Amino acid sequence: MSAFQADSQQLILALSKGRIFEDTLPLLEAAGITVTENPETSRKLILPTNDPNVRVLIVRATDVPTYVQHGAADFGVAGKDVLLEHGGEGLYQPIDLHIAECRMSVAVRNGFDYETAVRQGARLRVATKFVQTAREHFAEKGVHVDLIKLYGSMELAPLVGLSDAIVDVVSTGGTLRANDLKEVEAIMDISSRLIVNQAALKLKRERLQPIIEAFERASNK
Ligand code: ATP
Ligand code: PRP
Repeated sequence: MSAFQADSQQLILALSKGRIFEDTLPLLEAAGITVTENPETSRKLILPTNDPNVRVLIVRATDVPTYVQHGAADFGVAGKDVLLEHGGEGLYQPIDLHIAECRMSVAVRNGFDYETAVRQGARLRVATKFVQTAREHFAEKGVHVDLIKLYGSMELAPLVGLSDAIVDVVSTGGTLRANDLKEVEAIMDISSRLIVNQAALKLKRERLQPIIEAFERASNK
């Protein structure tokens, strides 16, 4: 264990900038914790709070489970999409926070006849950041796919002939519409979860439990 964590009174929370950080702030407030620096303006990656024993790590959304799994953070907030790709090893997932709600969907270019392609058993090229989820979805449907791993801007792939379809998160549908794409299948609902390092849950239970309970109460409102 690093010196950073040696103090068992210290709690380290991993969050990503943007919607997860913004939507977690009211939950932290409900637990009496105020983050005292803004990650959008600060260059710091370790942010202080009003509680000297609680600090916030700012990491990429996809990296949150990794920090928590390895105990570099005691707890964190991550989307179900990210957790499914990570696998959830070493993580306790006590609550659905009902924040950053969206859905995982299959989308194609307007004009592409997805249903017919599937019915005829065509082999589909699918571009996505979510390869595990996509692989499982198409395997369940018995559809043969060639998965193309991307790290962002999935909507571009069908427009330039890189793929026939994409698997991506959809909320308002605005991004699909703006790029001449249509949603053809909803795979699952997505929201963000509180995740806790399994060892920290045992060793720091007294400190973590009230925060977990406050998050639970606030997220059920
Ligand atoms: P990374 O920085 O690692 O590439 P990202 O850019 O996907 O990740 P965010 O855009 O901050 O990170 O998304 C964080 C989480 O919010 C996602 O994992 C997903 O669960 C959810 N999410 C993504 N897009 C939307 C959306 N348009 N509306 C609501 N929730 C969303
Ligand atoms: C996400 C996702 C989609 C978009 C869907 O992008 O990758 O592109 O939201 O939302 P909509 O259906 O409401 O348009 P985001 O806004 O997070 O941008 P980023 O992936 O570049 O961070």
